[in-house]
Amino acid sequence: MTPPRPSPLPPSTPASRFPYARGADGGPRLVYGADYNPEQWPREVWEEDVRLMREAGVTTVSVGIFSWARLQPGPDTWELGWLDDVLDLLHAGGIGVDLATATASPPPWLTTAHPEVLPVTAAGETVWPGARQHWRPTSPVFRRHALRLVRKLAERYADHPALVAWHVNNELGCHNVHDYSDDAARAFRDWLRERYGTLDALNHAWGTAFWSQRYTAWEQVLPPRLAASHPNPTQQLDFKRFSSDALKEYLRAEREVLRELTPGVPVTTNFMVMGGTRGMDYADWADEVDFVSNDHYVVPGPQARDELSFSANLTSGIAGHRPWFLMEHSTSAVNWQPVNVPKKPGELVRDSLLHVAHGADAVCFFQWRQSAAGAEKYHSAMVPHAGADSEVFRSVVRLGGILGALAPVAGSVREPARVGVLFDWDSWWAAEQDSHPTSRLDYHREALDWYSALLALGVRADVVTPRSDFGGYDVLIAPVLHVVPAELAKDLTRYAEGGGHLVTTYFSGVVDENDHVWLGGYPGALRELLGIRVEEFGPLLDGESVALDRPGDAAGGDLAGSVWTDRVTVTGQDVEVLASYADGAYAGRPAVTRRTTGGGSAAYVSTRLGPEGLAALLPGLLAPAGVASELPASARGRVELTVRRGADARFLFLVNRSDEAVPLPGLVGVSGEVLAGQAESGADGDLVLPPRDVTVLRHPLTP
Ligand code: GAL
Repeated sequence: MTPPRPSPLPPSTPASRFPYARGADGGPRLVYGADYNPEQWPREVWEEDVRLMREAGVTTVSVGIFSWARLQPGPDTWELGWLDDVLDLLHAGGIGVDLATATASPPPWLTTAHPEVLPVTAAGETVWPGARQHWRPTSPVFRRHALRLVRKLAERYADHPALVAWHVNNELGCHNVHDYSDDAARAFRDWLRERYGTLDALNHAWGTAFWSQRYTAWEQVLPPRLAASHPNPTQQLDFKRFSSDALKEYLRAEREVLRELTPGVPVTTNFMVMGGTRGMDYADWADEVDFVSNDHYVVPGPQARDELSFSANLTSGIAGHRPWFLMEHSTSAVNWQPVNVPKKPGELVRDSLLHVAHGADAVCFFQWRQSAAGAEKYHSAMVPHAGADSEVFRSVVRLGGILGALAPVAGSVREPARVGVLFDWDSWWAAEQDSHPTSRLDYHREALDWYSALLALGVRADVVTPRSDFGGYDVLIAPVLHVVPAELAKDLTRYAEGGGHLVTTYFSGVVDENDHVWLGGYPGALRELLGIRVEEFGPLLDGESVALDRPGDAAGGDLAGSVWTDRVTVTGQDVEVLASYADGAYAGRPAVTRRTTGGGSAAYVSTRLGPEGLAALLPGLLAPAGVASELPASARGRVELTVRRGADARFLFLVNRSDEAVPLPGLVGVSGEVLAGQAESGADGDLVLPPRDVTVLRHPLTP
């Protein structure tokens, strides 16, 4: 039996609270803009800014993100006149404002009068002012001052015609997610009381029988501060959960003030779904905002483009596949990597459109005008130091035109793929804790490797979270799904027995929600479902690898495992060994297995194969579900295809990830109205995608 296909969500409309810009015809169009920091510039520059914004097709800017010290120079002094002028000027230029609550960086007068708002590290050091975001998420003093500022801004600008959305704080948790102060300790105890009710329950969950850690009064419970050896693992895991919740709670506090005073104005905050940013469980935050926003920066490396696609895709999953807002990315180089490489020609536009391909209905940059002073003066912007007479600004103008032409895409939703990749913050946090079989396990990298392999094969996939309805995917890949509570084990069993094809990996199903091992052999919670039993983990030393044999692979040696191996025994019926260890401690034992479960299956990959190895293995795992690439063979890996679906049309995004022209011979359904990109044809009439370019095609849906 094939599980039901996920049905596309109804296309969102402006009524969905997404702050769409308006096109010439009055209909919704994609948003285009940047963080705008006019307080860094004299007034004459503001006029030029608005003129250039109009030239670039900018529709919306985020204002006031780091303006607290300018807006409130002292506890009872307010200077809002300049912001009035900025908003008026932008409005006169037809540009909407996503107004920040300005609470991201507390001013010196506040931290001098109240040093007790400053965060404290695990080692007890104070995080001093001097940069930004030096505040404790749980500080009542900080909250009182911050909410006063939020109230002031909401009262003043409630009816300003430029206001299209509220931008709470900025990248909550970017620098202050883990605070170990006394405020944090108090709030952590409250959070634990709420979670466990009694100290007995806490003692059980934290396994405090170990190392004489039994608590007899709540006051004894602390955040996992610097300790003599590994702090209690469940204490560490709960502190991560608590820290994410504490920021979520702070987000709610600002949002409630805004909702009280401006109920008609949507509220968002910019998430950081990018690379290894792991402190905030955004899947759990998504319901707190009126629309999801994300910031993303490309970090150079062999999987840079894959990571962009993965993060945009995950953002879409977090947003329930509804359109989301790309609040920040960069026009070219950033300033915070060891070496900050500029983007190649075409990448500015291509990277932006890849986000749109994955459901972004807004494309914004950090920042509008490159700063002349301060820590980010070498970070690219829409108007670089060189000024408007520059390649970057010309690309910015080009992108503005393309986004204008893509107006019909606004409000469409990503069409579900047949493959889901499950991404789970709890497993991320728990699998990488200290005192484990290896410190080399990298949760995000393993998930990204699977995604890279799917991209290499040209197979569309959705990155989803345990909160998503994953039951409709034909194939569900759950890499390193380490934390498997009993309910999730049941859901996954139902999924596979109902016809779904589950694929999971090493160190999955090992612990429950308290980080207690499921006993009787690994992967405890999934043992029956997978039909295997692992008696012992065999992590590999750096540089070590093991060869795998596959039946029917005459040449052999196309798969090599690293980081991890398992001593696997097949215990269930209907288990096929897809690959075995050819050497190493477990030579001759199964390395990759698949159990057939009714119409579905449950596969286990016991070692790290990396993107290439997974690309070699995956076709065999996808075959039982009948999933294959929709791209011609020559384009696989070089072109990414995504599909968005609106009320009356499908939109195909064909993104050339490579530096060469890619022909797309015989792509099914390639015809259609070209909304963006060149419909350049090769000699035989096939579409040819220029290097680093994107073509967007519109296919009307016939009723
Ligand atoms: C973000 C932040 C921006 C800017 C940007 C630079 O993390 O929100 O304010 O610092 O990074 O890449």
